[in-house]
Amino acid sequence: MDYLNCGREELEKEYDALVKKYENVKGMGLKLNMARGKPGKEQLDLSLEMLDVLNSKSDFVGADGMDCRNYGILEGIEECRQLFGEILGVPSETVMVGGSSSLNMMFDTISCMMTKPVVDGCKPWYEVKDRKFLCPVPGYDRHFGITEYYGFEMIPVPMTENGPDMDIVEKFVENDASIKGIWCVPKYSNPQGITYSDETVRRFAALKPAAKDFRIMWDNAYCIHDISDTPDELLNIYDECKKNGTEDMPILFCSTSKITFPGAGVAAMAASDNNMRVFKERYNYQVISYDKLNMLRHIKYFKDFDGVMEHMQKHKAVLKPKFDIVLNALDSQLKTVGIGEWTNPNGGYFVSIDVLSGTAKRVVQLCKEAGVVLTGAGATYPYGNDPDDKNIRIAPTFPPNDELETAMDVFCICTRLAACEKLLSK
Ligand SMILES: Cc1ncc(COP(=O)(O)O)c(C=O)c1O
Repeated sequence: MDYLNCGREELEKEYDALVKKYENVKGMGLKLNMARGKPGKEQLDLSLEMLDVLNSKSDFVGADGMDCRNYGILEGIEECRQLFGEILGVPSETVMVGGSSSLNMMFDTISCMMTKPVVDGCKPWYEVKDRKFLCPVPGYDRHFGITEYYGFEMIPVPMTENGPDMDIVEKFVENDASIKGIWCVPKYSNPQGITYSDETVRRFAALKPAAKDFRIMWDNAYCIHDISDTPDELLNIYDECKKNGTEDMPILFCSTSKITFPGAGVAAMAASDNNMRVFKERYNYQVISYDKLNMLRHIKYFKDFDGVMEHMQKHKAVLKPKFDIVLNALDSQLKTVGIGEWTNPNGGYFVSIDVLSGTAKRVVQLCKEAGVVLTGAGATYPYGNDPDDKNIRIAPTFPPNDELETAMDVFCICTRLAACEKLLSK
């Protein structure tokens, strides 16, 4: 049956059947959650032994001879900078290792540029009254939250299968000096799981911004988070920028939140000397040094980059079946009625679904009333405003597999019910 091309009578019958199914589901008293991209318990258990590699008998001295229990080394211990350099594909000298959250480092970075220009002669951003930020959509709500908090006008840029629409990015960035930056999740983007094509990365590196202090917030949160045997490859932005003489433009971020423990992992950022000089001056005032014991714990546990990549295989083994559950449900319950479009990512943490236009909010509400919590409709757009009311982000990682199956069945019933309601109300 194809909802968009069937007769009204047939659709009414389908609607009646769905209402019955929905009432049944509501009676089950479910309490399920597919809202936030959190690792599940099985994933957290994978890193438990890391907690045993440091104890009162350990050697706490890092490679640079520093006792990691004490204050010191603002940039983080050398071996950790090296590891993150390999993860991000940049020289270790450009890396600063921070606390447990890369989002925190992004917030601090924007906050720093609000008060201190990163380029001589430019104004701090708080003085730029009409400051703007480009926001590829759908995107990550917490990115948008930072730039909303700092009073940027956020301009949505549509995502394509190759990354943000670069014709639009170039037009804005190269003609408008009030555009100060862009949010990017270049590999396995949140929420679509899209990896930017080589051409997209090259066009980013070749940008000639009207604003000398335009910066690319390159949040590589999912850079090694493959779930497929044929993972995506992302071109190295740092190398491309070097070729173009634009190495001051990108600021790279990542963390071990989805490698070891969210909230108790290690985060890092990397940027050119010109940027880092300004950022470090601020860090100097805000912190003496970050948690080096946690850095050491990660290094002792993983040993090196290969150790991290081996560990990611274990995550993959847990996550692949979860993505399969989501995609199988969508294929068997939505594709069959011609409703919805979704991505089939090779990695990351999400599946992004466009339901029938004008029904995303209704789907989320129906799910909630049936005991299944989803990310709010609109959350993937700046100001929570999805103009077509169609995008929903599914986070399959947290629920156990049996709960995920049930939650997906409920989601599909609600998506179909909302579509029937909408089509019959025409
Ligand atoms: C794209 C992206 N960046 C950053 C984060 C948060 O990272 P952290 O835990 O290092 O602050 C998330 C978490 O979901 C994310 O999806």
